[in-house]
Amino acid sequence: MSVALERVSKRFGEFVALDEVTFGVDEGELVALVGPSGSGKSTLLRVVAGLERQDAGAVRIHGEDAAPLGPGDRRIGFVFQHYALFRHMTVFENVAFGLRVRPRRERPSGSEITSAVKDLLQLVELDALSARYPSELSGGQQQRVALARALAVQPRVLLLDEPFGALDARVRKQLRQWLRQLHDEVRVTTILVTHDSEEACEVADRVAVMHEGRIAQIGTAADLLRETANPFLGAFLADSPRPSASAKRIDYH
Ligand SMILES: Nc1ncnc2c1ncn2[C@@H]1O[C@H](COP(=O)(O)OP(=O)(O)OP(=O)(O)O)[C@@H](O)[C@H]1O
Ligand SMILES: [Mg+2]
Repeated sequence: MSVALERVSKRFGEFVALDEVTFGVDEGELVALVGPSGSGKSTLLRVVAGLERQDAGAVRIHGEDAAPLGPGDRRIGFVFQHYALFRHMTVFENVAFGLRVRPRRERPSGSEITSAVKDLLQLVELDALSARYPSELSGGQQQRVALARALAVQPRVLLLDEPFGALDARVRKQLRQWLRQLHDEVRVTTILVTHDSEEACEVADRVAVMHEGRIAQIGTAADLLRETANPFLGAFLADSPRPSASAKRIDYH
């Protein structure tokens, strides 16, 4: 198991954001996390990343208890909905950043960094734009740079929190296909948060549905679409941001 949560709970004051969540992601797997706003998706990612501390329960990364590790020591790559590129750095420097700030003993040489960044930019199909600044890129291009930057430090786990959420439907669709291909090539364990059940079913190996701080259901897209036992799930899928698209998918099965 690459990431394992064992009865993880997190409160904000009286409010229970995560309620004894137990959940595992296999090595190399891409799991999508869906669920309504406020159900705890981002909190779950932040706890895995170490940006937020759980009140109870354990997070294990490759079997190791993550409790003693701060966010910088967990070897986790994170991409948020709103591109958080460094505005004053070129595409190349944005991707190189995580390698340049490594402690001296672990830091690759200048030429190793150049070659690693070139490879990553090729992977995200942006090698031609390496000298540009973020303001000179489209939203989709910026998110691809953010992904390359997250991958540069060879994370053990990649956490994507609505990485395409701010983009228009057409670009989202392209990027989700591209993400699936990228994942097939790189095979890094990934948790993708998305509001869009169609996106989840299309890219993920398994889909987990969150509801009120719990994992209401988890399975392959086909399992979940067949599943009628959970009325909440049916309602969520039918009630997703693109009702016609998800209804169409449900009809397929
Ligand atoms: N720092 C915080 N302080 C207080 N409450 C918080 C904090 N962070 C999250 N919450 C609350 O915890 C709940 C879960 O929030 P979270 O951000 O995990 O939801 P989400 O599923 O990611 O929602 P969305 O789809 O809108 O991004 C929400 O009710 C939110 O208001
Ligand atoms: Mg969120």
